[in-house]
Amino acid sequence: MKKILVAYYSESGSTREMAEIIAANIAGNEIDVLPVAEVAHLNYTAVILGSPNWYGKPVPEVVQFVKKYENELAELPLAFFFSCMDCYKTEQSGNLGVQIYCDSNFREQNTHSGRLSAWEKSHTVSSYFSNLSKLNRRLNVQSLAFFKGRLNFNKISFFHALLMRFICVVNTKIRQGDYFKEQDLAEWSMELGKVLSIN
Ligand SMILES: Cc1cc2nc3c(=O)[nH]c(=O)nc-3n(C[C@H](O)[C@H](O)[C@H](O)COP(=O)(O)O)c2cc1C
Repeated sequence: MKKILVAYYSESGSTREMAEIIAANIAGNEIDVLPVAEVAHLNYTAVILGSPNWYGKPVPEVVQFVKKYENELAELPLAFFFSCMDCYKTEQSGNLGVQIYCDSNFREQNTHSGRLSAWEKSHTVSSYFSNLSKLNRRLNVQSLAFFKGRLNFNKISFFHALLMRFICVVNTKIRQGDYFKEQDLAEWSMELGKVLSIN
């Protein structure tokens, strides 16, 4: 039996709930689901790492985790998922050499061809991937997924709520709500068996 780690950080709970759904859908393996701060070692066959997207990047706690386990992560197949409010797949997304999965919230935005706004540019799959690779060039990312998460001003810090309220005024497409879909998470999780060679 393979040992899989599903590690995450979550402020308002959606990335944690996603991690739990993902773990429940990877059958036939021994799975630990842990917040990044509680991971004590990386003696695993593969790692699935989840982070909310803050300003187009993984959160500082996940950055710290990737730096701490820099050498171990370079040796392990990794699937990374972002919990975010927006994501665009462009032509470049196909040239990244990793499997890309965008949930159904984002699929209608997938074939964006016109000129991208500054916000859209910072929310493309390639931009997310580039920010992730910069953390550690040796990261062995096999699959990168994007799931629309949760925005709830009551579940985040005062300053984060202030910032997100401002973003919602500037970008009227971003609204409070719970968006992630169990079916999409299950679909991605089931594909991971093959992608991470853990079946
Ligand atoms: C400080 C902060 C910055 C954020 N920046 C972005 C952003 O640039 N783009 C985006 O799509 N979502 C952004 N979000 C939204 C979160 O990525 C989203 O709500 C996520 O699902 C939260 O995950 P959690 O419930 O696990 O905390 C931001 C949220 C916070 C609190």
